[in-house]
Amino acid sequence: MTSLWRGLAFVRDQVLARVPRPAVFIALGAIAGAGVLLTVSSLVGVAVETWSRGDVQLRARIVLLSAKGQIEELARDPSPEAAAELQALFARLITDERLQAVGICEPDGRMRAPTSTMPSRLLCASIRRGKAETTMPIRIDSQDLLVSAFPLADGVLGHVVIVHDLTYAKARSDKARVYILVATVVAALLVSGAVAVAMLVLVRNWRTALRTTLEDLRAGRVDAPHTEAALPAELREALDQYDLVRRTIDGVHIDWTPETLQRALGAELPGAEVLVVSNREPYIHNHIEGGGINVQIPASGLVSAIEPVIRACGGTWIAHGSGSADRDTVDAADRIAVPPDAPSYALRRIWLTEEQQDGYYYGFSNEGMWPLCHIAFVRPAFRESDWRYYREVNEMFADAVVREAKTRDPIVLVQDYHFALLPRMVRKRLPKATIVTFWHIPWPNAETFGICPWKEEIIDGLLGSSILGFHTDFHCNNFFETVDRFVESRIDRERRSATLGGHETLVRPYPISIEWPPSALAGQKPVPACGAAVRSRFGLGEGVRIGVGIERFDYTKGIVDRMHAVDALLQNHPEWLGRFTFIQAAAPTRSKIASYRALQDEAVALADEINARHGTPDWRPIVLSIRHHDPAEVFELFRAADFCVVSSLHDGMNLVAKEFVAARDDERGVLVLSTFAGASRELVEGLIVNPYYAYDMADAMNRALTMPVAEQEARMRQMRALVRTRNVYRWAGQMLLDAAQLRRREAIETLAAGNLAALPRLLRRRMG
Ligand code: F6P
Repeated sequence: MTSLWRGLAFVRDQVLARVPRPAVFIALGAIAGAGVLLTVSSLVGVAVETWSRGDVQLRARIVLLSAKGQIEELARDPSPEAAAELQALFARLITDERLQAVGICEPDGRMRAPTSTMPSRLLCASIRRGKAETTMPIRIDSQDLLVSAFPLADGVLGHVVIVHDLTYAKARSDKARVYILVATVVAALLVSGAVAVAMLVLVRNWRTALRTTLEDLRAGRVDAPHTEAALPAELREALDQYDLVRRTIDGVHIDWTPETLQRALGAELPGAEVLVVSNREPYIHNHIEGGGINVQIPASGLVSAIEPVIRACGGTWIAHGSGSADRDTVDAADRIAVPPDAPSYALRRIWLTEEQQDGYYYGFSNEGMWPLCHIAFVRPAFRESDWRYYREVNEMFADAVVREAKTRDPIVLVQDYHFALLPRMVRKRLPKATIVTFWHIPWPNAETFGICPWKEEIIDGLLGSSILGFHTDFHCNNFFETVDRFVESRIDRERRSATLGGHETLVRPYPISIEWPPSALAGQKPVPACGAAVRSRFGLGEGVRIGVGIERFDYTKGIVDRMHAVDALLQNHPEWLGRFTFIQAAAPTRSKIASYRALQDEAVALADEINARHGTPDWRPIVLSIRHHDPAEVFELFRAADFCVVSSLHDGMNLVAKEFVAARDDERGVLVLSTFAGASRELVEGLIVNPYYAYDMADAMNRALTMPVAEQEARMRQMRALVRTRNVYRWAGQMLLDAAQLRRREAIETLAAGNLAALPRLLRRRMG
């Protein structure tokens, strides 16, 4: 019942917020009226004035024609008598009130027989005269006059000049203007008044309809509508609002920052509780030799993406406590406030036995799912015991989610392939939770996924989510195909959702990114100083150019392949011998797994072999640094490099590529990027390569080393602009706004559930 009332209140707010105020209409009416008024009155004034001028000219012409013969006769006679007669004739003519003066401009420019009313400053020289009648306005002594000149005997005898007084025309036009002004003001007042009254009636009707509908809903008196048109207006309004929110999320450009994210959450998910679930924890406490504890930030794309987000919105992060000093740093509830320097959220650690860790993490997650989802030609291994541990650990984490949740409808952000079963487990116990699962690695095609013996359970687990996110549309489509192939479900491609057992999961692409500006950039030395520091640390000569590769020692990253490319570069371009070194920083990872150990051995042997083939006693083409590198060190390496290679054989996104771009605030350096990394869909200004083809990568390395500065800057500027706007706050913001929208829809469905049986169907249709 509470949720019904929340839904009703929501609808009421939507309707009342969208009701236009009558004052708005009056104001709009007044503005429009004033505009019309000014335009009409000035047009009328001009028209009246033009018409009046035409009128006086016509009268003059008629008067003249009636006396033209007599005038010409007298004009031919140069005697003073004829002049006196002309003057008398002209004096008679100007008895017409519109004519002021008449005279003759003789061919030599003298004025003959002017009436006494002829302005003394009006000279023949200033009057335009021709073979036909001419007219010109003249202003003399602040009086507006119109002067017409009529030729006598084609101008041979001069021109009769008639001066009209235009005061009359002006007075007439001013009078017309005033009449129109008064008439339009009266009309505008009448129209705005009528609109305001109509609006008042309309608003009163809306309010009454809303009150009645809510009362009816409460009392169960509303019949189920069968078409959208039959829905109460208020619910249609709520649906419109829902559409509006969706359009806003999709279409509006927002500069995403921690503050924007916080504000968006505050506005769209007020009071929502956020819980993050991942295997890897953001802060690992380890005992160090000789006593003491240090804090390590793991080399994990997932951690670098989620950490700034939860910092921004607070909450609880549930993760495996894997550090040797982790147990010594938590409280009685296995919690610790982090980040250590400025705590803003809680880290809740889960303890796993060695068997659980071997089965769930090394076994099923990293020997089964990891090679299954990455096409790197490492065979996945599926063992019954690993699967049992995987289920067990998923249960443990689901349990922790339920215990940590302080509300019945938290937002649970589930991370990655370690927890494919957890969404369904949480959904069963917290049906109202909004579960947003993000799959950080690729999703293979249905055929490949079919290899997994527990594919149905995995799909079922994931479809417990409210929203399931992948990096790219391609992975979403692979997922749909897999669901379609292996479980009885309904897939709605248009809406991008899959429904299993009545529960619908939205499946959407959210390309992950990094924080902007990256915190590791703070405190970095200028680029030349970083170059000097790296050269001195690795014993490189002054003029030696630098390429870098930085990641976990994982077989999906193409580390061996890029070493082959360095080998090819030195063979094809011997000019780089002694002048170029490739630094490979690689953090040991999952070393319990044979394929990882084998990769590390292979890489070390290959580096030695290439160094032996091309190197000299004081120069090595490849430097391998196998240890954990903290973010500041990583950024220093990025800033020292002429180019960075990301040669993943397959990668969901790859954040190293984005971090390299973020580190180069000097807009220099070149990114050599695998076409098989999701990042290549966005960072198209990198040099895109096929990592399986050493020659291609060697060629890109050579291009990077010889690329003009202007081209480097142009490419880097584009990529930086993209990473800046499509940062990790946007990634999280989009998922969370989608979650907010989903919750809103659920509120409307709850509202409708009791009485409006047809509404969910209509909602689904409109919200697709
Ligand atoms: O790429 C998948 C992923 O889970 C990342 O999110 C993370 O960067 C990496 O693997 C970490 O692996 P692990 O936690 O096993 O060291």
